[in-house]
Amino acid sequence: MEELAIEHKIISKSILATDGKIRIIKLELLAPIIAKNYLPGQFVILMVTQNGERIPLTIVDTDTTRGTITIIFQEIGYTTKLLGNLSPQQNIYHLLGPLGKPTEIKNFGKVIIIGGGVGAAEIYPVAKSLKSVGNKIITILGARTKNLVLLEPELRKVSDEVYVTTDDGSYGEKGVVTDVLKKLLTQNEQPNLVYAVGPIVMMRAVAEVTKPFGIQTIVSLNTIMVDGTGMCGSCRVTIEGKIKLVCCDGPEFDAHKVDWEELIKRNNIYISQEKEILEWYKL
Ligand code: FAD
Ligand code: FES
Ligand code: MG
Repeated sequence: MEELAIEHKIISKSILATDGKIRIIKLELLAPIIAKNYLPGQFVILMVTQNGERIPLTIVDTDTTRGTITIIFQEIGYTTKLLGNLSPQQNIYHLLGPLGKPTEIKNFGKVIIIGGGVGAAEIYPVAKSLKSVGNKIITILGARTKNLVLLEPELRKVSDEVYVTTDDGSYGEKGVVTDVLKKLLTQNEQPNLVYAVGPIVMMRAVAEVTKPFGIQTIVSLNTIMVDGTGMCGSCRVTIEGKIKLVCCDGPEFDAHKVDWEELIKRNNIYISQEKEILEWYKL
């Protein structure tokens, strides 16, 4: 884990998607030691400013020659908006990683990979790695509307089939990712693995669809995190009745064993403070 007091400069920035209100931003950060030690499925915890909070973001790509890592995030609240307002050549205050257990990369056979919203960015490194070891990759991408569909060209390059759904029907099929998943499971030969990242309600819905078919289903959980090293307990989840810490035991877990109700409650703990700070700063 990199904990050195070196500068984490923003090398490049681009706005990947926006619907006029929400922006999804890609940043390339100078972080040579994290880039060198990273494995797919891992994440960083960063602080934008010295007095700010710590937030986890998935490492989407690395370039070991340039010594950079790429993160993609949705400006959802105070800290992600602060991060999104930085420009190339500016530094972020602190960066820790790579954190979490890496994804198991092996030849499962046929894998359905599902990304909802900004989860599309989080599935990209996993799809790329699973494809490189010979899996057949079927990708399902979901977004609220056409302008928020993320990384479709990149995911097409590493997938055998790609399906896109939008809530408003402005692109791809009108509906949600589980509509396509249900169709694929009833029509086709079944996959050996389903891997899903997105909003908690989407991951829970995926788990409900695959459970009756007995298909192994992995989700990457987005709990609230503070230290990212197992000390604060804020990322606690219950998996098959046992307490686990998402930052060290995860972030990936068997979707059929997650206590989803508890996870939803715990992720909403600070919702009134999160709204208050946005109103306070008129963001
Ligand atoms: P807030 O208004 O403070 O919070 C909005 C919502 O984000 C909250 O209701 C809560 O559900 C969640 N959240 C708030 N604080 C935290 C926190 N400290 N830790 C985790 N969740 C929090 N988002 C991306 O856009 N791209 C990613 O690649 C990505 N990867 C993630 C990987 C992991 C392992 C985890 C756990 C989360 C990831 N997230 C990712 C979610 C991201 O951390 C939150 O969107 C971010 O922390 C919100 O902060 P905020 O201050 O802007 O919003
Ligand atoms: Fe503190 Fe996991 S983030 S224990
Ligand atoms: Mg916040």
